[in-house]
Amino acid sequence: MNLKHHLEKIIAGRISEVSGLTGSKALINYAREATFGDYQANGIMGVAKQLKTNPRELGEKVLADLDLGGIARKVELAGPGFINIFISPDYLAQQLNTLRTSAALVQPLVAQTNVVVDYSSPNLAKEMHVGHLRGTIIGDALARIFEYLGQTVIRQNHFGDWGTQFGMLITQMQDMQQLDESELKKELADLESFYRDAKERFDADPEFANASRENVVKLQAGDSTCLKLWQAFIDISVEHCQALYDKLGITLRVDDIKAESFYNDRLAGIIIQLDDAGLLTESDGARCVFLDEFRNKDGEALPTIVQKSDGGYLYATTDLAAIQYRSKELNANRVLYVVDARQSLHFQQVFRVAEVAHFKAEQCSLEHLSYGTMMGSDGKPFKTRTGGTVKLMDLMEEGIARAFDLVSEKNPDLEESERREIASVVGIAAIKYFELSKNRNSDYIFDWDTMLSFDGNTAPYLLYAYARIRSIFRREDIVSPHEYTILVNDEEEQALALKLLQFSETVEQVSEDCYPNQLCLYLYELAGIYMRFYEACPVLKAETTVRESRLGLCDLTARTIKQGLSLLGIDTLEKM
Ligand code: ARG
Repeated sequence: MNLKHHLEKIIAGRISEVSGLTGSKALINYAREATFGDYQANGIMGVAKQLKTNPRELGEKVLADLDLGGIARKVELAGPGFINIFISPDYLAQQLNTLRTSAALVQPLVAQTNVVVDYSSPNLAKEMHVGHLRGTIIGDALARIFEYLGQTVIRQNHFGDWGTQFGMLITQMQDMQQLDESELKKELADLESFYRDAKERFDADPEFANASRENVVKLQAGDSTCLKLWQAFIDISVEHCQALYDKLGITLRVDDIKAESFYNDRLAGIIIQLDDAGLLTESDGARCVFLDEFRNKDGEALPTIVQKSDGGYLYATTDLAAIQYRSKELNANRVLYVVDARQSLHFQQVFRVAEVAHFKAEQCSLEHLSYGTMMGSDGKPFKTRTGGTVKLMDLMEEGIARAFDLVSEKNPDLEESERREIASVVGIAAIKYFELSKNRNSDYIFDWDTMLSFDGNTAPYLLYAYARIRSIFRREDIVSPHEYTILVNDEEEQALALKLLQFSETVEQVSEDCYPNQLCLYLYELAGIYMRFYEACPVLKAETTVRESRLGLCDLTARTIKQGLSLLGIDTLEKM
């Protein structure tokens, strides 16, 4: 049950009744200070302003007949017209007792929607590097969250597999045509250096460069030899990516691939449709769409180029075809693009062109969920010590190695194999959680020490908090804590109960505005509130009904942390 939305509805209804204005909003927030209650509604001031009446008088009238049906123990008017709401402990207990017996901690959303999530989407010419880490992790968390809320999620990995770079790679592969599959795999084991070698030849040798350009044209025209080499390369590169996804616990599968090449056959049709809609303009031989709202700093019109003078199509053309496919064939209600902020103009342009050209249904919303850059400790984009790009596989290995040292230091008595197992969870969790706990819009500094710290809003802190709660349940006399009736009395019990109840509204909020850091913050706060509860309220030493109730609260806390982390794509450990 989404308490926040529920309160919003009741209070907005009352404001409408009293003011005679339909469609009033109550705008409920979490109260920032305990004296403001648990929630604070602030819709009154706006309405009073509109009606030119005194907000406090309007507030009195709203409160006079406000019936919250036992949810609140106290409601008061505060400041210039806020309503402070204090939730009743009995209500909390009743809600938690329903929650503890239900299988899911969150109800599915009422509206069933098709959500397309375009994420990870690296270029296959090179090995995946840290530039793709953010989008991969954030996109995967969002996909999991939408699924948990009962939505139909369609993952789309829009691999870059069709650009001009492939001409160069094909040329480089031409000497390898006789190799069998396993020999070829060996040659391409390090895609990064294979790409580097090809690029070097391309830059130094005009003959090689010409052959490469010809190969692009041949490939795009469907030449079978080129296609075969290209396919062999793609297969190996996809395998590399999949190994990475598996290691990082990313839910993308081969079936989710809709790479650029998939849209190849549709691109000519896109140009025809744009032409029929009267949207095409020729500029220096290239075909472009000019829309009034896109101008550079000097006020000059900016084109969206859809076809080059040599007939080749562009990144934007493919994205227009993808929008049409996602809207009309996948019947998407929302399409989420989890892509680097540097592509924001590109998306603004293609979204607008798609709208004007009716490539998308009206109710389909296209959203670019952009993210900032990952920086090194020097404040510059993250690089290896020698200035190269950091391969994701190496980054994960390093995280696991560092976690192993940490675990060994903390728990020297554990068997090595057990320490290795713990480290492989903690290392990956630390990297993912560090990413997810940041507001995706900002750049951040990648810092091993912070992400592996046991203090603060980190994965080790939460994993440890979870394992500590679970250790309580290793006692033989605690059989099925789900069955214990929860009572809510002490202040710390109330705070914990309210926080537990807010899990569903937090998850729903993330599904609305797509900021997973809100869920991280929630889990971090939950763990802190739990610690205060555990310090203030004896659990195992309390008498039977209180002991059972508190064990019930501990159990629900553990389940909520586990579920929350799993929505973020992070595994938990029973022992640490
Ligand atoms: N392959 C692109 C890159 O690495 C990202 C693709 C994002 N998705 C899209 N539909 N354009 O920058």
